[in-house]
Amino acid sequence: MKIGVLTGGGDCPGLNAVIRAIVRKAVDVKGDTVIGFYDAWDGVLEQRYLELTTPVVRGILPRGGTILGTRRGSPFDSKDGVDRVKKTFTDLKLDALIVIGGNGSLTVASMLHKQHGLPIVGVPKTIDNDVVGTDATFGFQTAVQIATDAIDRLHTTAESHDRVLVVEVMGRDAGWIALQAGIAGGATAILVPEVPFDIDELSQIVRKRHDRGRYASVVVVAEGAKPKPGTLKMPARVLDAFGHEKLGDIAHAIAPEITARTGFETRVVQLGYIQRGGTPTSYDRVLSTRFGLAAVDAVHNKEFGSMVALRCGEIKSVDMSATANQTRTIDLALFADVAATFFG
Ligand code: F6P
Repeated sequence: MKIGVLTGGGDCPGLNAVIRAIVRKAVDVKGDTVIGFYDAWDGVLEQRYLELTTPVVRGILPRGGTILGTRRGSPFDSKDGVDRVKKTFTDLKLDALIVIGGNGSLTVASMLHKQHGLPIVGVPKTIDNDVVGTDATFGFQTAVQIATDAIDRLHTTAESHDRVLVVEVMGRDAGWIALQAGIAGGATAILVPEVPFDIDELSQIVRKRHDRGRYASVVVVAEGAKPKPGTLKMPARVLDAFGHEKLGDIAHAIAPEITARTGFETRVVQLGYIQRGGTPTSYDRVLSTRFGLAAVDAVHNKEFGSMVALRCGEIKSVDMSATANQTRTIDLALFADVAATFFG
């Protein structure tokens, strides 16, 4: 078979491990030809690609980022985009395309399969862990570890200076990183998009902690956290070229409000792209590898329109359309019963 591969959306630790696994199984075991499209859908539209052979993927297992490059954007953004994707399939005699992406890329992949019959298999990636249909995405565990390490470090400096530190982590619609890293790092409070917060209640938590003689606090906030309506003035919304809201200022909105209510010195740390860069953890390398191998099996079994997924420890093939335009939000019981027990 001739199989195309692309990586779409924001990058994520483990992308290269998936690419390597696909190539090792498809080329070495099945005798397939694999080509990798550069820069996500742009490479498909413009027919920019390279042949992925075993020597090409040598040494990439632990490398962060993606050797193929990635972009946001979709063939549906332009009038002739879908026709150009179809032309690429025909011109290059492609039997299948494996799309390694998050919610956006998997939605596009699902539409191309459902509406246009293209033979596509999805692989769920994102540090945000917000893809419906899988128990986990690769990259998430790495991001949580990075955020936890950062919180550990911030505790000691916060304690030395008797400061409140507001740590902003990624997670625009789902607060998985904030929740897991906040629990693991012993956060004073965790703010997530799924549970609107009240700045007065948050300040109370911090104040109570100080009253108990704990003069430092680390508050973990997901970039998409939202205040209860009318309780806090939020920064103006800014959109990027793809209509995505540019996030990354909630911590700055919160910090002065905590100071105003408590009088405690409050500083901000935004972890930003550090969470997405660098080498994947061993867990993510293994998950990525299993996903890559399973994607090749799905292609050979002609399970087009499916996505590989982790379900109760096993790798399964699930309907990709069930993930389209959906967000897998946090486990609210984990937030309320576990995380919140330690607030303050
Ligand atoms: O990869 C997902 C994500 O990390 C979101 O949490 C974040 O809002 C977004 O990417 C930012 O990515 P970019 O600035 O590359 O669009």
